[in-house]
Amino acid sequence: MGRVSGKVAIVTGAARGLGEADARLLAKEGARVILTDISPKVMETAAQIEGAIGVVQDVTSPEGWAEVIALAEAKFGRLDVLVNNAGIVDFTTIEESTLENFRRVYAISAEGTFLGCQAAIPLMKKSGGGSIINMSSVASLTAYPIVCSYAAAKGAVRSMSRNIAVYCQEQGYNIRVNAILPGIIASDMTAAAAEEVKRRGLDVPVADPAKAPKVGQPEDIANLVLYLASDESRMVNATEIIIDDAVTAK
Ligand SMILES: NC(=O)c1ccc[n+]([C@@H]2O[C@H](COP(=O)([O-])OP(=O)(O)OC[C@H]3O[C@@H](n4cnc5c(N)ncnc54)[C@H](O)[C@@H]3O)[C@@H](O)[C@H]2O)c1
Repeated sequence: MGRVSGKVAIVTGAARGLGEADARLLAKEGARVILTDISPKVMETAAQIEGAIGVVQDVTSPEGWAEVIALAEAKFGRLDVLVNNAGIVDFTTIEESTLENFRRVYAISAEGTFLGCQAAIPLMKKSGGGSIINMSSVASLTAYPIVCSYAAAKGAVRSMSRNIAVYCQEQGYNIRVNAILPGIIASDMTAAAAEEVKRRGLDVPVADPAKAPKVGQPEDIANLVLYLASDESRMVNATEIIIDDAVTAK
């Protein structure tokens, strides 16, 4: 028996990076997983995971969400776990950013999470409850001026998570909602951040693998996702967990 045996999970942004690691570990621990991503590479990633399904999905589209949830119901008859992981970063300060850039970053992380929760709750309710895990960032706690829109979007993810968690509890849905705030985790996104920090000649330990005390691996986040997805975390609700090896504590 795996730690999430019998559960059905959707992980967004799962073609690579943290989402891929989440999907792999959830599947290894017994969940049936739907991996979604705007990149068609998600089909390749899903094909490598036994019993998993890949779907090309843009998390900013309400119609796309309706299709993914309908697929979960048609294929598996239930939904227990949703990991709102898809996100992009835009390396611009308040003075450099455009409204268009801001809206794109916000649309994927914040609106995508909003749409995902809204779409998933009815099927989770029918399934007797569930766990929603939303990917925020330490960039919502510490001000890194070169990611202005990203910080705003990830802050929205945190406050929305608490709000939805309390709503679901008040309604008696048995749906928990938590946010994860990763620090620096090795991924394509982090590699791009490191390049940008170098280009600008900045001193930003959390965005620079060369300066961070420790660089996390996607599996470090996946282990937390697994815990939050499992019934072991049944008392963990409406909270946010920082996983950054003490970087923001200093
Ligand atoms: N890597 C880190 O250090 C770190 C730190 C804090 C937070 N995060 C957050 O964790 C999540 C995953 O980050 P990662 O490092 O794996 O990044 P990544 O860029 O490697 O992966 C993100 C995935 O999201 C997908 N995506 C982008 N736009 C999408 C859309 N509109 N619809 C669906 N999918 C879309 C991309 O195609 C990609 O596969 C993100 O939300 C990121 O902000 C990462």
